[in-house]
Amino acid sequence: MRFRTCMQSISAVLAAVGLATLATPAIAKPGKAAEPWWKSAVIYEIYPRSFQDTNGDGIGDLNGITRRLDYLKTLGVDAIWITPFFPSPNVDFGYDVSDYTSVSPEYGTMADWDRLSREARKRGIRILVDFVLNHSSDQHPWFKESRSSRTNPKRDWYVWHDPAPGGGPPTNWQSIFGGSTWEYDKPTGQYYYHIFYKQQPDLNWNSPGLRKAMHDVMRFWLSHGASGFRLDATPYLFEDPNWPQDPDVASGQPVWLKPYNSNLPSNHGALREMRAIVDSFPGNPVLLGENSVATFDGLRQVYGAKGDEINLPINFLYTAVKPLDAAKFKARIDEAELKLDGLPPVFHFSNHDTTRQWTRFGDGIYDERIARLTAAMSLTLRGTALMYYGEEIGMSDLKPAELADFPLGPKRKVRDNRDPVRSPMQWSGSAGAGFSTGTSWLPVARTATTRNVAQQQIEPNSVYNWYLRLLTLRKNHPALRDGAYIPLESGNSSVLAYARQDKAGRGVLVLLNMSTQRQDLNITGWPSVQPKSGTILMSSTPAGPVNLADPILEPYASVLVGYQLQGPAATRR
Ligand code: GLC
Repeated sequence: MRFRTCMQSISAVLAAVGLATLATPAIAKPGKAAEPWWKSAVIYEIYPRSFQDTNGDGIGDLNGITRRLDYLKTLGVDAIWITPFFPSPNVDFGYDVSDYTSVSPEYGTMADWDRLSREARKRGIRILVDFVLNHSSDQHPWFKESRSSRTNPKRDWYVWHDPAPGGGPPTNWQSIFGGSTWEYDKPTGQYYYHIFYKQQPDLNWNSPGLRKAMHDVMRFWLSHGASGFRLDATPYLFEDPNWPQDPDVASGQPVWLKPYNSNLPSNHGALREMRAIVDSFPGNPVLLGENSVATFDGLRQVYGAKGDEINLPINFLYTAVKPLDAAKFKARIDEAELKLDGLPPVFHFSNHDTTRQWTRFGDGIYDERIARLTAAMSLTLRGTALMYYGEEIGMSDLKPAELADFPLGPKRKVRDNRDPVRSPMQWSGSAGAGFSTGTSWLPVARTATTRNVAQQQIEPNSVYNWYLRLLTLRKNHPALRDGAYIPLESGNSSVLAYARQDKAGRGVLVLLNMSTQRQDLNITGWPSVQPKSGTILMSSTPAGPVNLADPILEPYASVLVGYQLQGPAATRR
């Protein structure tokens, strides 16, 4: 492959000074009119407790998100997913909901929500609400009623079971958060089921009354400006009605995704009903799913046989790839891109439960480049990309020493092993990192003094500016906006290579070196026509662009090359 262009030398200069930029993007033709917004969206996850505090109580709030909408607009995200902000005893920080249709006073009021939703809409930013549908808090009035007597009309809204014939829990199943899944309720003499904490009793989706109530919750938020939902823990809605014993519970193996506790056939019907509800609202609202699966086939099924269940099931198989390994990523990406019959894959690296990518992949030497590489990968693929607040400035997990002495108290009653990934957003280098004027509920990372939004916005070569350019390119370049995914062979086991290309033959070649060594490439696998020349659109290595006649990539380099096919365009896949 030979690339030569006069733009290359211009880009080389720009790249050398850290200003690798877009070649003027072709005039943006609108994407396929029929495509709903979510098919290629970038959705930014906000953990509201840690994003922006506006009242000095050390806990982020909805008004804080409103205050930062312009930031999000400039960054270029299409939607935000806000993790639970509903009333909750906070045993699981909001994932134990005690009222599904109001705002926790910690986070504000319904009026604050309305303002947020209005202001977001003005800026073209959609909001997804986190719908915790598998379980409620044990403090939810529904559960209080349910446990009040065996004959209460809401008894069947939760999963109750008699003790085993000889006494004790009905099965030997273990909960994901440890201990038995069964909690005995002495006054009524039965056990209730909880796949997570005992303060999170599972809702019974077999109960028509419960089902209707939950559907009403969805309608409530859709009528109040939400553009859809992130569905929490979808695999666990139903349990095997025969309640078998777990033969290998003593093995110490993880208890999630067991055949008896997850992804039962009845899940499909429940998800289809939810999909029908969002589809009945205007504006293409969407379901984004936390639908853990063990296999790609399982992932395919969560979209629904007719694509009529979860619109956007998160591809946790991609998230799980570790360490950075070109062959492993290629396998995960190729299957997601090529074997979903055009349904959109959903890529992400981190969230409020998972180690941040800086911490997961960083090697202490090339961290800056690695952060650019993971961003370049997720944001140039066809499909939907999720970002987790702070990844755009390379936030890392809190270190154990940063948490060790941080006291518990009313704002944080329990330690959680996910605390390290939930630290306050690093807006500035000042005290409190611009997050709060009070004492924040979790410590601000020590890195905030040097790694923060304010500083990175003015530094042209920052991780923030890399994201900004990537997000701009993703929106403006026809191949990234609209093009097919073309799997390529890089001729080098350390380098991932693929292209995006539209019907007019406009393309972007993506080259990602996942190693500490310089790597030589020999790119093959173009479907028909092979590009003859190209322009460096972005390069993370300061030495400037590679010589594409004989491409060599610097350690952990990410290089994006724009091209225009001269012959007939490659067939769209
Ligand atoms: C999901 C959430 C996680 C929560 C769990 C139980 O996995 O992402 O934070 O603890 O559900 O609700």
